[in-house]
Amino acid sequence: MQIKAIQEKFKSLFEAEGTFYTSPGRINLIGEHTDYNGGFVLPGAIDKAMYAEIKPNGTDKVRAFALDLGEYAEFGFGENDLPAKSWAKYIYGVCREMIKRGAAIKGFDTVFAGDVPLGAGMSSSAALESCFGYAINNMFKLWFDRFELAKIGQATEHHYVGVKCGIMDQFASCFGKEGSLIRLDCRSLEYQYIPFNPTGYRLVLVNTCVAHELASSAYNKRRQSCENVAAAIKKHHPEVELLRDSDLVMLKEVANEVTPEDYIRAEFVIEEIQRLLDTCAALEKGDYETVGKKMYETHIGLSRKYEVSCEELDFLNNIARECDVTGSRVMGGGFGGCTINLVKDELYDGFIKRATDSYEQKFKMKPKVYDVVIKDGARKL
Ligand code: GLA
Repeated sequence: MQIKAIQEKFKSLFEAEGTFYTSPGRINLIGEHTDYNGGFVLPGAIDKAMYAEIKPNGTDKVRAFALDLGEYAEFGFGENDLPAKSWAKYIYGVCREMIKRGAAIKGFDTVFAGDVPLGAGMSSSAALESCFGYAINNMFKLWFDRFELAKIGQATEHHYVGVKCGIMDQFASCFGKEGSLIRLDCRSLEYQYIPFNPTGYRLVLVNTCVAHELASSAYNKRRQSCENVAAAIKKHHPEVELLRDSDLVMLKEVANEVTPEDYIRAEFVIEEIQRLLDTCAALEKGDYETVGKKMYETHIGLSRKYEVSCEELDFLNNIARECDVTGSRVMGGGFGGCTINLVKDELYDGFIKRATDSYEQKFKMKPKVYDVVIKDGARKL
């Protein structure tokens, strides 16, 4: 569907045919706000993605059309060419980050569209960065490997969007593999594919459809808290660079040297890193009841300690509990977006009905429901 519409638009705008590339959004089973602390995450790429048709145009400019928004932008690659449109900043940022790394990039035409819901915690922006990173790398025969492409996407967020994100989203979008989650060590970038096929259960996202304002500054503030605590611990334990290197005993030692707010944020992160490891052990045994328990614990931590939940997400989490859903929690950065739910096959219909009906009754809007299908990462079509 998207491909056809993109093709038609590309032809009418540029009177040519380009090459198609795609890169997906992601889910994360557990391990939230651990990536920028050097901890572990457990994401997987999904069947919702960004698609772009793209072709060199022999100039030194990008001519880009965002089909979903019906918006056009044109920009160069210079330091002062930052485009005004927010979606164009991502493409420009990817190009700039490649140029900084020594790549010679030429102008290109592109039309793109996607079905990763925006602001839902499913990483639509990482999908966009990875799609263009992969496409430009392939089209101009550059030398970046997938690790570098993920870092280029992350650096785009840091330098051109203003979100000091970790590496999880871009990594999942670049490295996704059909049917598998990725257990990623965000400090070393060592990773393992973990086949995920929970017989008897389904993974489903319920989207609150609220995207809270100021989410990016609140996100950066959380990261700052973690860095403050890691720096305080380092004074006593020089080997500690990131919260990943610390533990709850070390944290207690600095209780009087950090603010109560920073303390509680760090406590969540240290516990969450351990929770992920416990979850992986449970997954290995096929023990989904423990996996689910850990998901609920993460939700409580994200809501009460890290304070990145919101009324709508807490509401959906409570409904999941009441419906005996095995595991449920807010997914991604938070402040809105989706809950991720691990639910037994036989309870699925009842849960979805109850969640949609009662959410609509309370908040006067319908939540959106997406069954999770785990797919491959960035590629040429
Ligand atoms: C956002 C960021 C990620 C990660 C998650 C929280 O998705 O982009 O790097 O920090 O939030 O786990």
